Amino acid sequence: MCGIIGRVGDGNALEPLLTGLENLEYRGYDSAGVAVQNGSGINVEKRSGKVEELKSSIGEPLQGEVGIGHTRWSTHGPPTDANAHPHTDESEDVAVVHNGIIENYTELRERLAANGYEFTSDTDTEVIPHLVQYYLDAGYDSEPAFRQAIDELEGSYAVTAMVSGEHVLYAARRGSPLVVGMEDGEYFLASDVPAFLEYTDSVIYLEDGDVVVVDEDGVEFTDLEGDPVVREPETVEWDPEQAGKGTYDHFMLKEIHEQPTSLSQAIEGRIDPAGGRIALADFEPGTFADVDSVQFVACGTSYHAALYGSLALNQAGVQSTALLANEYSVSAPPIDDDTLVIAVTQSGETADTLTALRRAAREGAATLTLTNVVGSTAAREADDALFIRAGPEIGVAATKTFSSQAVMLTLLAQRIAADLRGEPPADLEALLPELESMPAAIDDVLAGSAAKTVARRYSDSEAYFFIGRGLGYPVALEGALKFKEITYEHAEGFASGELKHGPLALVTPETPVFAIFTGQEDEKTLKNAEEAQTRGAPVIAVCPDDHPAVEVADDHLPIPDTEPDLAGLLANVQLQLVSYHAADLLGRPIDKPRNLAKSVTVE
Ligand code: F6R
Repeated sequence: MCGIIGRVGDGNALEPLLTGLENLEYRGYDSAGVAVQNGSGINVEKRSGKVEELKSSIGEPLQGEVGIGHTRWSTHGPPTDANAHPHTDESEDVAVVHNGIIENYTELRERLAANGYEFTSDTDTEVIPHLVQYYLDAGYDSEPAFRQAIDELEGSYAVTAMVSGEHVLYAARRGSPLVVGMEDGEYFLASDVPAFLEYTDSVIYLEDGDVVVVDEDGVEFTDLEGDPVVREPETVEWDPEQAGKGTYDHFMLKEIHEQPTSLSQAIEGRIDPAGGRIALADFEPGTFADVDSVQFVACGTSYHAALYGSLALNQAGVQSTALLANEYSVSAPPIDDDTLVIAVTQSGETADTLTALRRAAREGAATLTLTNVVGSTAAREADDALFIRAGPEIGVAATKTFSSQAVMLTLLAQRIAADLRGEPPADLEALLPELESMPAAIDDVLAGSAAKTVARRYSDSEAYFFIGRGLGYPVALEGALKFKEITYEHAEGFASGELKHGPLALVTPETPVFAIFTGQEDEKTLKNAEEAQTRGAPVIAVCPDDHPAVEVADDHLPIPDTEPDLAGLLANVQLQLVSYHAADLLGRPIDKPRNLAKSVTVE
């Protein structure tokens, strides 16, 4: 996730561009840049760091009525000055900002480099200005050159571009958001409305496949072939302070609803259902062929994702264990050259996890970090890094990063197992289409959830229990962690079979039990839930509509039917919503729970 802004109008574009970038920092903040047009061509200022740092580094104010800007959340290449947007061709005739992932960038880059175009960054984005320049050099006018370049991109994008000497912005959208703002001869293009809300509340949203040309006379909407399309203007009724959260009351709720998008970004280009394989281009085939055991280290929610990954690996026949990073120094299993240690950390800065990672490296393990932050310490220190591409998460309670971590670990588990055996695991064929439809399945959960009603019904309870088996177990732990951290109510997660070995003593009519059914030995989990129900506890079944648990349970939170490897992640979305609504009813400060920090940088 990155933030894009563009502006055409009278007066200097710099101020609205920088204001727009500040308002978009919730979409990314590891580097920022602007480019403005004046009589002497395009001027670019960009650097790693926040917009504030960009602002103070712009000495002589840039002058120009047309400009573009970008605030970045790295997905290709670390957050360096060179990788910051806008990107240009060598002669700075074309400047481009982009949000999304260009899947065929390697191929495009090789072709352009072979034609003499020189690249100066590690980004996928840089192919776009060179491609536009390629068509300009071939004699195309600017608009057809832009269209031609866009036509060649595979993947997802929101792109805004400008060409030297013109009072025009060109933009296109596929899979990443883009919106036009309009007010008395001043026009904006942005990833999201908050970027320009101080200037206008009149907007038109682009749809996938739209190409727009904006100059001081107006906005022209067409499709990729150049045929006109009609898009209606709307008036947005948010105040600027609320705007980062859009229509949501809290970032946590917004981030829960972003999961279809964040998961699409996570898997984009990394699965190949047609070819029946995991396409993790980050790793050469055979990378994991010598791994004989995998150890995960992580804390909190990331530990639950790690446990999910570890169970997925065990089920795929690879020896694996998940350890709390803060316990690792006293409980690490033996390590040798064929041990792979995977640090799972959203921020990449958690002190406990870094300590465990460093210990593993010292003892000779191969190390890999799974993280959301490209330039983070864990990403830099491990031998390899795999990025979940969830975009910044502002709410302290992790939501979208958990689902992206768990899905990426599901992919990685399949990939490691395939490398070890020399062939894809047998169940991969069934899993791939289900993985591909996860974003749509989460949309279904979000659209029809009864979580608010359930949260209200059980709001006077003494404690809340969550049970699950197999891959449902880490989801039960995560459901309870989310519930306790934002409601401050007592909540515990258990392996469902463990209930009868002690916790059942806590069960009363005042302790609702959320039971997660994933399709793995569900009959046993149902029996465990019934044991709690017999002691008076209300049971809330999280399972598909046609599941036998629906008949037994007091309440039902439905999830679409899917593979057992993924069902827990759909259940998790229901549980996130229950926690959110329970905390909201109690009036808790949901985005900033007491005593907690987003990133824990002390041991
Ligand atoms: C809970 C939560 C924390 C983090 C933990 C590790 O909602 O967010 O439990 O998961 O502090 O943080 P990272 O993933 O940054 O290492």
